[in-house]
Amino acid sequence: MSFFNEENEAIARDIVGRYPVARSALIPLLHLAQEQEGWITKPAMEQIAELTNTTSVEVLGTGTFYEMFKFHPVGRYLIKVCTNISCQLSGADELLEHVKTSLGVEEGSITEDELFTFEEAECVAACTEAPCFTVNYRYFHRATKELFDEVVVDLRAGESPLSKGSADDQGVMPEHGTLSRVRQQIPKSRCAGIKHPEEIKGPPNWIEESV
Ligand code: FES
Repeated sequence: MSFFNEENEAIARDIVGRYPVARSALIPLLHLAQEQEGWITKPAMEQIAELTNTTSVEVLGTGTFYEMFKFHPVGRYLIKVCTNISCQLSGADELLEHVKTSLGVEEGSITEDELFTFEEAECVAACTEAPCFTVNYRYFHRATKELFDEVVVDLRAGESPLSKGSADDQGVMPEHGTLSRVRQQIPKSRCAGIKHPEEIKGPPNWIEESV
């Protein structure tokens, strides 16, 4: 049975068609699967393997290299609290403890309402705005316990907290797995016309041009 729903299966096939070698589409398809389900399930890996002429083991091996892909369920909102040096010096340890206590779960677990999972994170590259946390990879700067509480109240109420101390003040907070708001579209007229490596005869163009 197909893992991808009808719409996403069409998108998946379109993505595969952009590459001369199907396996090059593996990472974009992992993103698509996570966007649909919130995490990468076994049926997702099986269908990605089928679409990219690889095996489920290769899909798993590739995906587990990247921290962003989750191979176990997480809450609808994944909270990551940076505890690296700048944030630590600005109170990240206390913030992390507060997150843990107020959500009432251990790191990596899901709250009873299935809304939240939290993780301690390495530097999220916003050191000048320390301490920071992210929710589904949307940033909250100069974070305080109060800011964290407000964000959680908003999300529980189904409202967007993206105007509160966030670098991203537009739109709605997406569910876990959705990284971008705009899906890439490449019209045929803008395609580079790349060929399968085995179809390329002779030296690359740049060598021909330089001799
Ligand atoms: S140390 Fe936290 S963002 Fe860099």
